[in-house]
Amino acid sequence: MNNLSEYVAILDFGSQVTQLIARRVRENNVYCEIFPYNVNLNEFKKNPPKGIILSGGPASVYVKNAPKCSAEIFSLGVPVLGICYGMQLGCLLLNADVKSAKEREYGKAFCEITDAKDLFSGLPAKIQVWMSHGDRVENITKQFSILARTENTAYAAVRHKTLPFYGVQFHPEVVHTPLGSKIMHNFLYNICRCKGEWKMSSYIDAMTAQIKKQVGKGKVICALSGGVDSSVVALLIHKAIGKRLVCVFVDNGLLRKNEAEAVVSLYRKKFRLNFYFVDATRLFLNALKNVTDPEKKRKIIGYKFIEVFRKKAKEFKGIKFLAQGTLYPDVIESRSVWGGPTSKIKSHHNVGGLPEKLGFELIEPLKYLFKDEARLIAKELGMPDSVTHRQPFPGPGLAVRFIGAINEGQLSVLREADEIVRIEIENAGAQKGLWQYFAVLLPVQTVGVMGDERTYQNTVAIRVVESLDGMTADWSKLPHELLGRISSRIINEVKGVNRVVYDISTKPPSTIEWE
Ligand code: XMP
Repeated sequence: MNNLSEYVAILDFGSQVTQLIARRVRENNVYCEIFPYNVNLNEFKKNPPKGIILSGGPASVYVKNAPKCSAEIFSLGVPVLGICYGMQLGCLLLNADVKSAKEREYGKAFCEITDAKDLFSGLPAKIQVWMSHGDRVENITKQFSILARTENTAYAAVRHKTLPFYGVQFHPEVVHTPLGSKIMHNFLYNICRCKGEWKMSSYIDAMTAQIKKQVGKGKVICALSGGVDSSVVALLIHKAIGKRLVCVFVDNGLLRKNEAEAVVSLYRKKFRLNFYFVDATRLFLNALKNVTDPEKKRKIIGYKFIEVFRKKAKEFKGIKFLAQGTLYPDVIESRSVWGGPTSKIKSHHNVGGLPEKLGFELIEPLKYLFKDEARLIAKELGMPDSVTHRQPFPGPGLAVRFIGAINEGQLSVLREADEIVRIEIENAGAQKGLWQYFAVLLPVQTVGVMGDERTYQNTVAIRVVESLDGMTADWSKLPHELLGRISSRIINEVKGVNRVVYDISTKPPSTIEWE
């Protein structure tokens, strides 16, 4: 739980788009947090939110074990907005008639606003909305006023006559409700009376104070990867405790071309961090010899990382804390509304396994932030664009882009090809809106002809994706000329490659990385 004086609580009933509600709230300069639907309401009594939003969810309020919060939520004296399932649940808890519908209403609809006093203030009389619901409320005019209707739904939005409860049957948080952000704004400002104090600079101040308090006179160790998350963590903690922060950067031999040098120079020269570089190339590459199984590769890299980090940490006395760049989506994903384990697709390697093994107390200053908010903080803290806008790079590095057993000679083939992909995309200014763009080396040899000579060489795949959070992704429709330039540069300049292919798979069902 945060210690901010103004925030909104979102109760998660399992909707796929609960995170989007949080995004929309924060875009309106109001801090918010997502809580499990069954959060103990006493939490809110200690530090009351300005408003509560009940998310949508896949269930019907009538199924066995449907997620429900207590009706006590309406006695907290805080405005509540129920979205879709949240509206049906709110209405049910307030004794309205909720009917289980046989068919779901799904998709675009037009909503006629019949009461524009508060929630819909300043909106046109008819707005486009996105519907996705099964149950519907009916015959509720005794307790509720109707605010909007669609052709299919007489109660598309309602307000309780005596309690500050609002319900919308549609999803204001998705882009298919183009004026959804304005509806959210109205809820936050007209109804919850928020002041809109959520700014990155205030977050930095609050976080620095919190870190100072948590660490006291102690020391913190931080594994730096050079990426935006761990860099922001390091700078925030450095701001709070200065040289009592020890940063360790490990070269596992699987970094991109010139990456280790660039990272070392940035942190030593520009930021003057208490920075240690460990070249563990041999350790990692020896351990990966002849290993082809992707999961085995990932596990070996994870374990070796712990080994290196543990050894390095022993050199410093009195380190009690470990800093990690955990982001909000990681926190949310690790909770499951339904309590069921989500299936494991890949063993992601960050330093998640470390604290338990090393006995550190954790510090996670980005735990409540989304990626783009971490980027804003990076900017605010003076990070150069090269770091702030750096594409995500996985912990296991090039190992998951080198299909099959890693051969050191060929690792440089992958590095050269990857650099061409990056340079060409950035030179063309095409990186805006891209989540990641990189090369993958395939253990597939094909026949080619160079000059008059037959060649039998490797294939490079180019992976370029657009994504909001890495959870889903679409392949990017890059201009053909740009793809052509990348392909011919790789084939002409990178020895050992005679074919380039473009990966046109979406996630799901494919993943972004190949292993
Ligand atoms: P996938 O391949 O699962 O990747 O679609 C989703 C996003 O996560 C990144 N990724 C990782 N990041 N450690 C990380 O820190 C990992 O082990 C790891 N594996 C994948 C990937 O680059 C993409 O952005």
